[in-house]
Amino acid sequence: GIQQAGGAAVSAQPVPVKAITKEVTVLFGSQTGNSNGLAKKLAKLLQERGFSVQLTSMGDFKPNTLKKIENLFIVVSTHGDGEPPDSAIPFYEFLHSKRAPQLEGTRYSVLALGDTSYEFFCQTGKDFDKRLAELGAKAIVPRVDCDVDFEEPASAWMSQVVTALTDSAAQEVGPPQTGAAIGSAPSLAVSDAEPAYSRSRPFQAEVLENLNLNGRGSERETRHLEISLEGSNLRYEPGDSLGVYPQNHPQLVDELIEAAGWKADEIVTLGKTGETAPLREALLRQYEITVLTKPLVTQIAELSGNTGLKELIEPEQAEKLKAYLQDRDLLDLIRDFGLKGISAAELTGLLRKIPPRLYSIASSQKAVPDEVHITVRAVRYEANGRNRYGVCSVQLAERLAPGDSLPVFIQHNPNFKLPENPETPIIMIGPGTGVAPFRAFLSEREETGATGKTWLFYGDQRFSTDFLYQVEWQRWLKEGVLTRMDVAFSRDSEQKVYVQHRMLEKSRELYAWLQDGAAVYICGDEKKMAHDVHAALTAILEREGGLSPEEASEYLTRMQQQKRYQRDVY
Ligand code: 2AM
Repeated sequence: GIQQAGGAAVSAQPVPVKAITKEVTVLFGSQTGNSNGLAKKLAKLLQERGFSVQLTSMGDFKPNTLKKIENLFIVVSTHGDGEPPDSAIPFYEFLHSKRAPQLEGTRYSVLALGDTSYEFFCQTGKDFDKRLAELGAKAIVPRVDCDVDFEEPASAWMSQVVTALTDSAAQEVGPPQTGAAIGSAPSLAVSDAEPAYSRSRPFQAEVLENLNLNGRGSERETRHLEISLEGSNLRYEPGDSLGVYPQNHPQLVDELIEAAGWKADEIVTLGKTGETAPLREALLRQYEITVLTKPLVTQIAELSGNTGLKELIEPEQAEKLKAYLQDRDLLDLIRDFGLKGISAAELTGLLRKIPPRLYSIASSQKAVPDEVHITVRAVRYEANGRNRYGVCSVQLAERLAPGDSLPVFIQHNPNFKLPENPETPIIMIGPGTGVAPFRAFLSEREETGATGKTWLFYGDQRFSTDFLYQVEWQRWLKEGVLTRMDVAFSRDSEQKVYVQHRMLEKSRELYAWLQDGAAVYICGDEKKMAHDVHAALTAILEREGGLSPEEASEYLTRMQQQKRYQRDVY
C-alpha cells in the first residue's frame, strides 16, 4: 500500500517498467479532506506506475527530511483570508522561515485548492509554489489553481505530473526498448477497488426522518435528518462529513429565467461531456446561481459589453466590486445592470458547477449501521432588498420529506478523529450545529465502551427552544458516557454568555484535563467562535499553568501536532 506518514514501507506492486524506481513524495495540507483525497489519488496513480511513493500530511512531515526529496508534489487548500489548513501551518511557517534549506535538487509541482468567491483565492498554494522556487526547487509542471469544482483541473494536473515523471524517469534509464509503457499518455484509471459511491458518483439516498429540533418561538430552525445508506456500502467514522448535492430553489430559477428573457425548455449543453438538458433543469441541478465571483462578473462584463458592469470591474473599483459581490446573486446582477440579450448557452458556459455541501456527521455507524444523521441549520436572511436562502439548508428544511431522496457521499476527515486510545479524555466545544459531530463521538464511545472521560461545552440562544439533542445528552450524562456538560445560552440573560465564558469559569478543571492528556475538539463557527475559544484556551494556560503568551501558544501548537487539538470549523 501507500506509505502513510510513519507507516510501514511500501509493499511491492506490479511495476510496469522495471527500471523505474523513482522516489516521489506527495505532501498534502487538508482541512476538510479534499486535498487529502486528491493526494491519495495521485499517490496511487504513481505507485501503479512503479514509483515508490511517500504520502504524508504536512502535519506529520519531518521538515529535516525535506532536503533529500527529489520529487515533491504538494496538494494544499486555502481557507478564509488566505490561510493554510490548521495542520499545514507548522510546515508552512518552517518553509517560509530562515531555517528552510536550499532545494536545488528538488523538482516539484503544486496543486492548489480554493474558491474564486474568496479574495485570496488559492493563496496557500501560490505561497508554497513561490517559496519552493525561491529555495531553488524546479517546477516540472506548472501549478494548477482549482475552484470549488476541482475534479477536472485536478485530474489534468495529475496527468501532467505522471507524464513529466514517466518521461524523466524514462530518460534517466535510457530510451525504452519498445514504445509501450513509457511515454504513452497515462490513463488516470485507478485499478484498486474504489468505493462505488464517491463525490463524483454520489449515492441516491432516501430520507428517513426530517425533524425540526428547535421549539416553537425559536429564531432558529435546525433540522435533524436521518438518511438511509442501505445498499450503498458507504462507511464513515465519527468526525467525517456527509457531502450533499443540493438543488437551487425553483422560484429563484424561474425568476432568473424570466429576468434574463430565456426560455425554460431551451436545451443547453452541460459542461464538456456534451450532455444536454432543458435550461430549467440545468439551472436547478447543475449550476451555481447564488454566488457571484470576480471571475464570473468579469466574464459577464466582457460578454455583454454592458457599460455599468465594465466600470465595476475597473481595477480602481476593486473595493466597490468586492462590496457588490457580497450577498448578491445572478438575479441581482441581471436586474441591476439590465443584462438582456446574453444567451442561456453563453451564460451557463461561465457558471460553476453547483458544489456539494459538507455536513459534519451526527451519528455513529456502530449504532446505526445503515444510516447517517446530520444537523442542518436553515440559513435565511434579508440582504440588499431581497430574502436570501441557503441553497442546501433551505432545500433540506422545506423541500425534502421522508421518502424523498438526494445525492450524497462520504467525505472522510482525518483531521477530526477520536483519540486512538479509548481512555484518552476528550473536551468537546460545539455551540449550535457545531455539536453534531459530538453526538457521533459520544454514540461511538457508548457503543465501544470507551472509558475516557468526556466533557461537552454547548451553547445556543435559548435553553427552552434551542437545546439541540437535550434528551440524548442527559441520558449520556446519566449513563456516564458523558462525564460533564456545561451550557451557555446566550440570550437567556442580559449579558451574553458563550461557551468560552463557561470554559474560563472552569479553567482550573479544564487545565487539569489538559495536563491529563485530554484532546480538545472545536466544531462550529470559524470566524468568531473558534477564534474566541482559542483565545480562552490560551488564557487558561496562562492563568492556570503560569505560561507566558508565547509558551501558551507553543503548548497549543504542540497539542495540535499531537492531534490533541482538532477543529472542524466553517
Ligand atoms: P448569539 O447569537 O446569541 O450572540 C450558537 O450559534 C451560539 O453561538 C449562539 O448562542 C450564539 O450567540 C453563539 N455565539 C455567537 N458569537 C459567538 C462567539 N464569538 N463565541 C461563542 N459563541 C458565539
